[in-house]
Amino acid sequence: MIKGVSSAPNQASLSSNKASATGAVILEKSSLALPVLNSTLPAASTTDAHITVLLDEAVQALEIKPDGVYVDGTFGRGGHSRKILEKLGSKGRLLAFDRDLKAIEAGKHIHDPRFTMLHSHFAGMQARLARLGISKVDGILLDLGISSPQIDEPSRGFSFRYDAPLDMRMDQSSGQTAAEFIAATTEQQLAEVIKNYGEERFAKQIARALIAERNDGRAITTTGQLAKVVAGAVTRFEPGQNPATRTFQALRIYVNQELEELALTMPQCLALLAPQGRLAVISFHSLEDRIVKQFVRSQANRDDLPANFPVRAADLPQPKLIAVGKSIKPSAGEIKANPRSRSAVLRVAQRTDVL
Ligand SMILES: C[S@@+](CC[C@H](N)C(=O)[O-])C[C@H]1O[C@@H](n2cnc3c(N)ncnc32)[C@H](O)[C@@H]1O
Repeated sequence: MIKGVSSAPNQASLSSNKASATGAVILEKSSLALPVLNSTLPAASTTDAHITVLLDEAVQALEIKPDGVYVDGTFGRGGHSRKILEKLGSKGRLLAFDRDLKAIEAGKHIHDPRFTMLHSHFAGMQARLARLGISKVDGILLDLGISSPQIDEPSRGFSFRYDAPLDMRMDQSSGQTAAEFIAATTEQQLAEVIKNYGEERFAKQIARALIAERNDGRAITTTGQLAKVVAGAVTRFEPGQNPATRTFQALRIYVNQELEELALTMPQCLALLAPQGRLAVISFHSLEDRIVKQFVRSQANRDDLPANFPVRAADLPQPKLIAVGKSIKPSAGEIKANPRSRSAVLRVAQRTDVL
């Protein structure tokens, strides 16, 4: 787990909740009817569609060369991948990764000799590409977080809107589910996860309530149980937000090791990019965005040198990666058409010629 990071709301609770801003109004629980989940909610929409976020902006940022080799690290339902393929010539190549088996299934519908779909977490990118004889690529795209089909499919256990088994794994073929984590963890570790990844002020109270429930012989195995116990432990929360929003986000980030994945992948992107190659990363919360921003900065600046270091700038090691423009956010029109895009931030960087 990455230590010392503070969390912010993210795509995890992509319901109608607004990401909290500093100074957001907090309502007293007693003043509200709690939006506690129950199994009488309307049937979930289990559509397999995902509306791609920042589609044109992200693909444009890659500056696709017709004969280039590109990586889509987060295939999802292939919105970005299809657009990249449109721009590639007959000798171009696109390698797409996803750790979700449903995404892999969706990728099988793309019958295109230029396209290869790989079932892997993206932190395995460099090794998987090496096995295919690829050590350099012209561009890499990461559209982080979860897809709409993952959130909207109740059985995946990502959402407090439906009562379902508490899974939350993007890759259901391996790893520990959220229920298994809660069954095995300590109260202290659970509180840390909820605090660090959910920025939840009631982390300790929630962890205590969950462990008490577990120790009383009521294992937390469903989203409904989790939402209910959390709602009982949270006394204040933001208007319109389910009290369990932050806890669901935290558990999802932990179960999928999302920040570790990203931190491990950034240096691989640097190593994989050919000179002038582009990296485009879409983040959905500040924890992810900070990792991307700081990595690019760390490659671009020699912030570690004292200001009066007696060396000319030209003699300093030159940057291997430079930020391209400022961060890009969805337009008001895109947010209106797809509210789930509202917290997206696209950062673009370019590999220099420096080895
Ligand atoms: C936001 S969706 C991508 C949507 C896609 N750009 C599209 O247009 O359809 C994120 C996808 O990345 C996958 N994913 C997230 N983290 C991953 C990781 N570390 N390794 C591989 N896939 C990951 C998720 O399973 C999900 O399918």
